[in-house]
Amino acid sequence: MNAHSSQPGLRPEANEAPESGIVEVFNYGRHRDGLIPLWVGEGDLPTPSFIGEAAAAGIAAGETFYTYQRGIPELRAAIARYHERLYGGAFDPERFFVTSGGMPAIQIALRMVSGVGDEVIVPTPAWPNFAAAVEVGGAKAVEVPMHFGNAGWTLDLDRFFGAVTPRTKALFLNSPCNPTGWTATREELITIRDFARKRGLWIIADEVYTRFVYEGERSPSFYDVADPEDRILYVNTLSKNWAMTGWRVGWLAAPPAYGQVIENLIQYSSSGTPRFLQRAGVAALDQGEDFIAFQRERAIACRTIVCDALEATGRVRFHRPPGAFYLFFSVDGESDTRKLGLRLVDEANVGLAPGDAFGRAGAGFMRMCYLRNPGQVAEATTRLVDWLKR
Ligand SMILES: Cc1ncc(COP(=O)(O)O)c(C=O)c1O
Repeated sequence: MNAHSSQPGLRPEANEAPESGIVEVFNYGRHRDGLIPLWVGEGDLPTPSFIGEAAAAGIAAGETFYTYQRGIPELRAAIARYHERLYGGAFDPERFFVTSGGMPAIQIALRMVSGVGDEVIVPTPAWPNFAAAVEVGGAKAVEVPMHFGNAGWTLDLDRFFGAVTPRTKALFLNSPCNPTGWTATREELITIRDFARKRGLWIIADEVYTRFVYEGERSPSFYDVADPEDRILYVNTLSKNWAMTGWRVGWLAAPPAYGQVIENLIQYSSSGTPRFLQRAGVAALDQGEDFIAFQRERAIACRTIVCDALEATGRVRFHRPPGAFYLFFSVDGESDTRKLGLRLVDEANVGLAPGDAFGRAGAGFMRMCYLRNPGQVAEATTRLVDWLKR
């Protein structure tokens, strides 16, 4: 529900765009002395200096003019090389379209496939921006709640497919998932691929956390099971792997046949990503593997710190996330997590995001981002444990 009142003369979709459910607690606590902020989806490390230097060199070289809508050829080639290393096989640079972040990649994917009167199916809990972007575009986001049980979070595929109607244009799948860490298996991806093929549906595959897994190099991907011509739009970003959330550079991958359409949609939205930022992208993709490994080690260490300590209290329920870098947990006896978020600011000096911001299925849960310096995560955990013991 929107707290703000509608403004006359605007499209209903604009008036009804929801406020981020994380912002309330963030605004409440952002200036607290000593608060440990674990509410937003980013780590505490600055962007590695070699990436910044590549951008600075681009500026020094005068790369400040309009540029290719699809992205500079050097970055598209670097993205293709990165995919070849990660997934094996050959990748055509013509598949890749540079966007001003993962969110704009989602926007363009949605502008391609859904509009007024259409539906897009979204398993929840999910990062809220996706459903909001569907609805701002005039389509309807249809939530399919995932199940939380002894096996952790699971997606009932019959239920997922059962939500499809003649209006459905696309299935959204974020794996590994923000906020639950749920990660689709290869078999699940095959089943979804087959269903989408049979029904002529698009898949929007948000794999931005694929490198944040706790076993192996990356999570199972649609790239493992799909053909290059399948109706799959892949969303990705430099934000998470290379600590570049503020840079706003990402990419969309699609069959090259859609290239002109995507170019046009980029033209009429951002009109391209600054060339010097794209230089930073080339450096990140070509030279950033050690940094990714370092971040993954941190995530592994922090997951252990948080999970071991909270588990020992016996007062919280969660499943160790197999992917991403969030703990999504409920606290016994606390159902109003919006209020709980505010109380934890006052009573524990820790900033967490309320789970109902991630859809109805997230009600009763809190999300903690633990991709930080392990000492600070340990301190935040101690504060939470002390609070739970009160
Ligand atoms: C699942 C998911 N997709 C996409 C994004 C967008 O990333 P960006 O910062 O590049 O817009 C995020 C950011 O939190 C995310 O969690």
